[in-house]
Amino acid sequence: MFSRTKNGKEIYLKKWAFENLEALTEYLVELNHETKKRFAPHAFDIETLKTLFQKSEEYSGYIATEPLENKVIAYCIVKSGILPKDAARLEQLGLIFDQDSDLTIAPSVADAWQSEGVGSLLMHFIVSDIRLTLAARMVLWGGVQRDNQKAIRFYLKHGFKIVGQFERKGLNYDMVLDL
Ligand SMILES: CC(C)(COP(=O)(O)OP(=O)(O)OC[C@H]1O[C@@H](n2cnc3c(N)ncnc32)[C@H](O)[C@@H]1OP(=O)(O)O)[C@@H](O)C(=O)NCCC(=O)NCCS
Repeated sequence: MFSRTKNGKEIYLKKWAFENLEALTEYLVELNHETKKRFAPHAFDIETLKTLFQKSEEYSGYIATEPLENKVIAYCIVKSGILPKDAARLEQLGLIFDQDSDLTIAPSVADAWQSEGVGSLLMHFIVSDIRLTLAARMVLWGGVQRDNQKAIRFYLKHGFKIVGQFERKGLNYDMVLDL
């Protein structure tokens, strides 16, 4: 689906396909240190991406591309269910999870494209797609670091709620979106 950023640049939003995995690897490797510190759901090599892509029952990826050069400029991994570490923490908060209808997400936008609305366009695209399924709730992959105010504001804007906090290399929040 074609869309436009706040600055009027045209981008394309889609679910990942096998032919995007090389461009996606380039995107991941080129992310700067600050973004990699915030976004590290899995290893950033093509073999890992191929493995995740093949496990299509469990993982799906969504990307935004820049149509002129066909470069990946944003990526979100979506996992069905909750990761064991996240589930253990969230259950301690009294939240009861359902591995069939809960999802885990981790979004990222290329450094040069952040704060231009790309993350929001991708999030709307994902939520519309996911609302066609039985999914009922989204949680963040490993939470969000408290000092990542940009991401926290981003999630709050998209309806996520802070449901708990935990220590891991500093304070982190667990955030949940009811779909
Ligand atoms: C977090 C991230 C996915 C947001 O995507 P984005 O394209 O930069 O965000 P958008 O431009 O769509 O902005 C949406 C909202 O996020 C918040 N936001 C975005 N940039 C911000 C900034 N520089 N400062 C403060 N808030 C900001 C605002 O609430 C904004 O809404 P507004 O435009 O109405 O003010 C992206 O910045 C990113 O990849 N960051 C690094 C990796 C990361 O932190 N991932 C999340 C790990 S938990």
